[in-house]
Amino acid sequence: MKNIIKIAAIGMVAGFAFASGAIAEPLGVSKPVIPTDKNDPLKEIWSGYKWASPETRAMEDDDFANPAGPWLEIGENEWGKKDGEAGKSCADCHQDAASSMKGVATKYPVYFDEWKKPMALEQRINYCRENKMKAKPYEWEKDQMLGMMIYVKSQSRGMPIEVKVDDKLKPFFDKGKEYYYTRRGQLDMSCAHCHENNFGQQIRAEVLSQGQSNGFPTYRLKWQKPGSLHRRFKGCNEQVRAKGQGRGADDYVNLELYLAWRGQGLGVETPAVRR
Ligand code: HEC
Ligand code: HEC
Repeated sequence: MKNIIKIAAIGMVAGFAFASGAIAEPLGVSKPVIPTDKNDPLKEIWSGYKWASPETRAMEDDDFANPAGPWLEIGENEWGKKDGEAGKSCADCHQDAASSMKGVATKYPVYFDEWKKPMALEQRINYCRENKMKAKPYEWEKDQMLGMMIYVKSQSRGMPIEVKVDDKLKPFFDKGKEYYYTRRGQLDMSCAHCHENNFGQQIRAEVLSQGQSNGFPTYRLKWQKPGSLHRRFKGCNEQVRAKGQGRGADDYVNLELYLAWRGQGLGVETPAVRR
């Protein structure tokens, strides 16, 4: 509890406010999203917010108490900072993120023609850094990337996730789906064992959610910082004693695409707060 008060205080000192604070609440928070796709395995889609404790929810609800605040500021600063041989900042090309980045987070991962495969939002950011700015890519799990992800994604807060699984994406979507349902590790469990068949059940000290991706990067109290979706994937792999993969691995991007589809209609909730 002391800790919670302490980090809340940091948020307060930083004095930030999320750009889209005007949005009442993301979809899937107090009411479920009813899937429109008849192939959806879930009857009701819920954000992990549903199973978070009242204390954790309160931290997420209050922009000034949300412990991810300092990272939002890092992202905002990075947005305006010139870097790399081209001497450009994100803002030089994309101007005001509030309009240029609005809605962007709802559609990732997207198919990237040049790579002939899907691209996650972190990869798009680094693509711009390397190719448009001639700057060094951010490291996936470092503060600058987490900050930029939170800054870019929070411009879509509350907007429904809507990935377009077209013919080009379909083979990757299928791979992601297969990954989701494959048993692995010493416990021989798939993602579905915990997040499809048993959500709402208690597992050790935690209550299982549907394992949705709409709040990432998510501030985890356990990590004492925000973490990427791929960090969570790795953690969940390790929970069943399987080997996790590196951030940005093809398997993880495909899985991310499949997970986004499972959560279609949920509002972007970045930065969510979880246990
Ligand atoms: C020299 C110009 C330039 C700079 C600097 C630049 N970008 Fe881009 N960026 C582009 C272009 C061109 C596109 C592709 C146009 C499109 O898809 O809308 C793009 C696309 C994007 C997209 C995908 C938008 C979408 O709708 O899918 C994101 C996100 C993005 N940039 C983020 C950034 C960030 C963050 C930075 C700074 C770290 C940055 N960009 C720096 C030119 C730039
Ligand atoms: C042994 C059970 C178990 C398995 C198997 C498992 N997870 Fe999890 N996962 C958890 C627990 C516990 C949490 C934390 C509580 C919660 O949100 O469910 C969690 C959280 C998550 C979250 C964060 C949800 C949020 O709202 O922040 C995502 C995303 C996730 N898991 C994805 C996956 C994926 C993808 C797989 C398969 C690769 C997987 N998990 C396999 C137990 C599991």
